[in-house]
Amino acid sequence: SGELPKLHEAFGNRFRIGAAVNPLTLKTQAGLLKRHYNSVTAENEMKFERLQPSEGAFTFERADAMIDFAAANGMGVRGHTLVWHNQTPDWVFVNADGSAASRETLLSRMKTHIETVVSRYKRIIYAWDVVNEAVSDKPEEFLRPSRWLDIIGEDFIEKAFEYAHAADSNALLFYNDYNESDPAKREKIYSLVRSLKEKGIPIHGVGLQAHWNLDNPSLDDIRAAIERYASLDVKLHITELDVSMFAFEDRRTDLTEPTEEMLEKQAERYRQLFRLLSEYAEHIPSVTFWGAADDYTWLDDFPVRGRKNWPFLFDIHQQPKTSFQNVIEDAQAG
Ligand code: G3I
Repeated sequence: SGELPKLHEAFGNRFRIGAAVNPLTLKTQAGLLKRHYNSVTAENEMKFERLQPSEGAFTFERADAMIDFAAANGMGVRGHTLVWHNQTPDWVFVNADGSAASRETLLSRMKTHIETVVSRYKRIIYAWDVVNEAVSDKPEEFLRPSRWLDIIGEDFIEKAFEYAHAADSNALLFYNDYNESDPAKREKIYSLVRSLKEKGIPIHGVGLQAHWNLDNPSLDDIRAAIERYASLDVKLHITELDVSMFAFEDRRTDLTEPTEEMLEKQAERYRQLFRLLSEYAEHIPSVTFWGAADDYTWLDDFPVRGRKNWPFLFDIHQQPKTSFQNVIEDAQAG
């Protein structure tokens, strides 16, 4: 209805409100996106495999379509992502004969990719997730094993930031990760970013993916993570927020719609989460959801393929949920 407050306006003096989009949702959610969000991120279309599926053959059409949508509607764009262990084509890591690429070859491919992509969107993409998910979830391991790490060594991370900064010295450069509020992983992310800063590497922020659920992580753990990262004097962006209705271990598939209890719990959870984020708004200039409404979410295929989930503020008909009302009510009160 015309009366409905706009999400990005309600939070206008705190943070941008973003949504991840894809070629489908740019069509099916266009109206909702224009109305409530003032930042977009490509859910998949700016990943290495989409932009450079084979060497030197860049494919920018779908990424550009999102850029055009953002420009036409006065929205900011966050770039996701330049260096990741996932969704990166095999050719990047191997020679023509199938043997492993050398450090020099891989660095040169990384540089070409980053230079080409970042300079294409210079002054358009204001923040980049330069390195994604490089820290391990395993207690005994610091960095996640990957071909980037194997072939280049630990400095693949700093090289990525240096190449990105060389291509666009105005873009804000982020390290982005999930399980970011887990105390053990938090300390690893903190050490990584601190050591990059100590070395003078151009890094400006930590992206907290925020793939959360009704109970976890606790508000205390989220608060502790925000404070720890903010103490590094970097910006924090919430980059992939969603609130799953299911605990990670919960694999049941019998629900065709969310229960009243789930919806109420989620609404209270969203209220608490946005209160917390608002408290730290001076450190958190951007909050992006990993989607926009419950009609489309990656969680419909994860961790159980084909199981519906309802993680957003808008329902499957793109109508506001109680979660939306709670969040707006608080924003307007505060
Ligand atoms: O494009 C193919 C299509 O041709 C094929 O028919 C179909 C069959 O399954 O797959 C399609 O690709 C899928 C792609 O999404 C596009 O929908 C992949 O299988 C699927 O694995 C891929 O999932 C994406 C995932 O990253 C890959 O790791 C999700 O959409 C995307 O939401 C998700 O996003 C990540 C962030 O980048 C990083 N943080 C975690 C977040 C959630 O996993």
